[in-house]
Amino acid sequence: MIIPIKSYSERRKNFALRMHNGIAIIPTSPEQVRSRDGHYPYRFDSYFYYLTGFTEPEALLVIVAETDKKKTKHILFCRNKDVDREIWNGFCYGPEAACEAFNFDEAYSISELDRVMPTLLTDQPVIYFTLGESSAWDLRVTGWIKQAKEQVRSSISIAANFLDSHLLLNEMRLFKSKEELEVMRKAAEISSGAHRRAMRKTKPGIKEYELEAELLHEFRSHGSQGVAYTPIVAGGANACVLHYIENNAELKSDDLVLIDAGCELNGYAADITRTFPVNGRFSAIQKELYQLVLSAQIAAIDKIRPSNPWDAAHESALKVLVQGFIDLGLCRGSVDGVIQSKDYKRFYMHRTSHWLGLDVHDAGEYGHNGESRLLYPGMVLTVEPGCYIRPADNIPSHFWNIGIRIEDDVVVTETGCEVLTVSAPKTVLEIEALMR
Ligand code: GLY
Ligand code: MN
Ligand code: MN
Repeated sequence: MIIPIKSYSERRKNFALRMHNGIAIIPTSPEQVRSRDGHYPYRFDSYFYYLTGFTEPEALLVIVAETDKKKTKHILFCRNKDVDREIWNGFCYGPEAACEAFNFDEAYSISELDRVMPTLLTDQPVIYFTLGESSAWDLRVTGWIKQAKEQVRSSISIAANFLDSHLLLNEMRLFKSKEELEVMRKAAEISSGAHRRAMRKTKPGIKEYELEAELLHEFRSHGSQGVAYTPIVAGGANACVLHYIENNAELKSDDLVLIDAGCELNGYAADITRTFPVNGRFSAIQKELYQLVLSAQIAAIDKIRPSNPWDAAHESALKVLVQGFIDLGLCRGSVDGVIQSKDYKRFYMHRTSHWLGLDVHDAGEYGHNGESRLLYPGMVLTVEPGCYIRPADNIPSHFWNIGIRIEDDVVVTETGCEVLTVSAPKTVLEIEALMR
């Protein structure tokens, strides 16, 4: 489940080929203070990690791509080896060991950055750097350019051409390798186990945070580093708050509970939602709405295959949901009419899919000029239709406060798709059997 170092070198080579000729500057994320001198657990930048596999903070990757690829250089800047700091913070590679272990051509101390960069930037036709992500890095990079320009003599040039390195990397990250899929399959398996565990532990009177604790237990006890995003454990009306994360209410017997939770494993995310009855048995109305969302989800997954527009899944789910809303008397008119007027947005206000990978909402374009891009083997996306009914005068009260979402993680294969999250129970029968 560990991606070998040579795969990261291959990604860098591939990226350098796409750059043609120029210099790329890719910093990792800064550490974040939580309060006073306490920090949040460190999470590296996904682009930096994708190209290096290096997880320490205070690091930066430079690639100097030459037309003659044999001359291309991959350079790491990282923290110095510091035995005193290691007493407090544990092992750190230092440039020399990192250069060797991560297969770079050169490595320097991060404290050398401001000295080395102005020289590296000279005579480069293009600078690949993503402006606008961090004003601190924007200032630093423009400072190096200014410094380099001050040294310009007749035979030295400084590029004024900036290109966004993320645009090239987004395309690379969108297509997952076999090794990446193996990690994602495992992340999905651990997360599915966590949903099963939460279902088994659920009973009337339990608190949302107790189920959150069960999810975390399962993630960590199977080797995941933690959550891929803050889990949502939402009983009853809380499920109608799309980004509910308080997770502090008591679960009531007659309510549904919606859990949206996935772990991160070696950088890769799983993203699963299941909705199930607190007392283990769906009521008639809960079952009716649940079956509707499930039919929409199955119709959407059915559209996931090579050459289909990525948007086909959403359109397919939407048609099923809207027909259901009309049949239940929640919307009026024809399916096309309700889709056109967007009346359905009262009950289904988000989209059905997003790319999934190192980030939960992963890198990759969704289309151009309003045209949805086509699916291709190796892409991974979620399928997550839902239905959320808030109390209102013109809605029968038996629908009130029901929130349902069903979310799976799906890989596009050569012939169709593979659902990575199959082992999280999804049908009414499966859920009721597990909870019995
Ligand atoms: N858990 C975030 C999402 O479903 O998009
Ligand atoms: Mn999602
Ligand atoms: Mn989710």
